[in-house]
Amino acid sequence: MSDKPSILFVCLGNICRSPMAEGAMRDAAERAEVDIEIDSCGTAGYHIGEPPDPRAIAYARARGVDISGLRGRQLEPQDFERFDFILAADHSNLANIQTVAPAGYSANVSLILDVVPGREGAAIADPYYGGEENFRDTWEDVSMAAMAIVERLRG
Ligand code: 4NP
Repeated sequence: MSDKPSILFVCLGNICRSPMAEGAMRDAAERAEVDIEIDSCGTAGYHIGEPPDPRAIAYARARGVDISGLRGRQLEPQDFERFDFILAADHSNLANIQTVAPAGYSANVSLILDVVPGREGAAIADPYYGGEENFRDTWEDVSMAAMAIVERLRG
């Protein structure tokens, strides 16, 4: 683990929610000049090596954030030592994360929206089978989380 705080965003496929979270977090951290290590992955291996969903790329781009260079990867046991915080999009992701966790791991595992006051315990809905409005909702959720994380890290 490095000195700077490290955050891993996790969803199912690593092509919609978690890469959008990674992009929103990178943007918020850069704007606030907060030095954080940021990554994303999926619990499933369906989209390893693939760029984010074109709808996720388009929505992030419309908000000024380029996530087209990200590539899908799957959660692995080493992530529990590499990252301080492992943040899941929904409760199913959270359960899947626990099945990969090695004994005695050090990472702090919770939901992404647990960092947003008033949204604790809430899931970020999967937009994969939805429409543009679902990607908008996802972007709003991950942006709020990114801003809340920046606020916390600034102390
Ligand atoms: P994500 O969305 O978990 O937000 O990346 C999904 C992407 C792909 C699939 C499911 C959810 N899939 O079944 O391929």
